[in-house]
Amino acid sequence: MKINGKLVLVTGASSGMGEGIAKAMAKAGGRLILLARNQAELDRVAGTITAMGGEAQAFSVDLKDADAVAKVAERITSQLGTPDIIVNNAGAGKWRFVDETTPAEAVEMMALPYFATFNVTHAFLPAMLKRNSGHIVNISSVASRFVWPGATAYTAARWAVRGFTQALRADLDTTNINVTLYESASVKSPYWEHNPGSAERVPGIGVIIPKLTVEDVGTAVVKGVERNKKLIITPFMTKLIYWNHVFFPWLVQWLLTKTGYKRK
Ligand SMILES: NC(=O)c1ccc[n+]([C@@H]2O[C@H](COP(=O)([O-])OP(=O)(O)OC[C@H]3O[C@@H](n4cnc5c(N)ncnc54)[C@H](OP(=O)(O)O)[C@@H]3O)[C@@H](O)[C@H]2O)c1
Repeated sequence: MKINGKLVLVTGASSGMGEGIAKAMAKAGGRLILLARNQAELDRVAGTITAMGGEAQAFSVDLKDADAVAKVAERITSQLGTPDIIVNNAGAGKWRFVDETTPAEAVEMMALPYFATFNVTHAFLPAMLKRNSGHIVNISSVASRFVWPGATAYTAARWAVRGFTQALRADLDTTNINVTLYESASVKSPYWEHNPGSAERVPGIGVIIPKLTVEDVGTAVVKGVERNKKLIITPFMTKLIYWNHVFFPWLVQWLLTKTGYKRK
């Protein structure tokens, strides 16, 4: 889908990858709707986009709360219309073993990104279907494809996003609504400070993959939407690992496990 002039909603736009995606979408001519909880940070991002000559409106909402999402979706629809492009990016979750994770934390990790992705899609999909156009991008991670030790509930939530995305694409097969899944390796973003104790659990094999910037993520997502890609895998070294995984899944899995975090 061409982004110029389109209404683009980005969740988790107050920080990191969401901020990078929002700015890249604005550069491509998108009119931005920014969602997250922290109003001050959303206003900062909206201000930067406006200063670049773009358009951005910020809406504070807790995406875990389905009723709050439905209400903010009504406000957005009445004030701005139905988004043409939705990027479900908001996510959180500390990397922990099951025995280090409480059941409440596991529920919290499923809430973001999985239920947030469901809630936002659920709120806007009927209007997109009525109009029979749109593009939904769900941001996940290489953790939705591979597994490594010490990040169990985090990994399960990313597999949920991947399953939801593929099933949604099948649901929308007869429509003009496109669905893209984004999976990348590590990005230099505040994620690692927001989720302490996670960075040290990146498997040793990860050193062969260059770290992305949030600008790289924005560029990849813009390209993915413009080229209507089903899957965005970035950077190139991650693609090589994916291809290896197709032919030698046991080897890739063995390397991730053996170079992974060791239980103390
Ligand atoms: N960083 C990486 O290396 C990397 C790599 C691949 C995939 N990912 C995935 O990409 C996603 C975004 O990561 P990031 O690096 O951009 O992290 P980040 O810098 O910590 O940003 C997370 C965003 O989610 C929002 N958010 C969190 N809880 C929310 C809630 N309940 N309601 C609404 N918004 C909420 C935060 O805003 P507020 O706090 O203002 O609500 C923030 O804007 C995550 O799912 C992550 O797993 C990250």
